[in-house]
Amino acid sequence: MIDVPELALVALVGISGSGKSTFARSHFLPTQVLSSDYFRGLVADDENDQAASAEAFDVLHYVAGKRLAAGRLTVVDATNLQPHARAGLVKVAREHDVLPVAIVLDVPEALAWERTQGRPDRTFGRQVLTRMHRDLRRSLGSLAREGFRKVHVLRGADEIASAEIRYEKLF
Ligand code: GTP
Ligand code: MG
Repeated sequence: MIDVPELALVALVGISGSGKSTFARSHFLPTQVLSSDYFRGLVADDENDQAASAEAFDVLHYVAGKRLAAGRLTVVDATNLQPHARAGLVKVAREHDVLPVAIVLDVPEALAWERTQGRPDRTFGRQVLTRMHRDLRRSLGSLAREGFRKVHVLRGADEIASAEIRYEKLF
């Protein structure tokens, strides 16, 4: 059971192919989920244009801030593997007095790679995934220190598939 404050900024954390978007779809409303792909598409007409990431996250943070100011749970569907990416989310959450929560999807690199190879929208090589996996291992030790108030780590496809979210009342 994953305890999430009813008002939180939830950062999904996981390598490509770990199942973040799938998890987001099954547990949250489409409008609660802000995906980096979607915002890259908005600003650059191409969800995979990595050069558009800075602009895309700018807009994503802006929308997240508007949602949190209105008291709406917000989920960020991005890899969130880099400390600076997560720092941006912790900052937005703090600016709105909202708890930042991390849900880590930790799957074996080989499983993610197998899934990736079947996706027309993902064309990067294995070494990219290996780098992401290394970044994830580094991230695991530092999330709490970075300001995430709760860090839920789901290990393996079964644990991810069977996870349930329980909302905690704030008052
Ligand atoms: P990126 O957006 O590239 O970072 O990946 P992601 O973490 O959002 O992964 P996504 O949810 O898109 O899942 C990747 C692929 O794995 C998709 O083809 C999914 O259908 C598949 N997948 C995700 N979760 C599961 C699962 O629990 N079981 C199975 N069999 N496939 C899954
Ligand atoms: Mg995704």
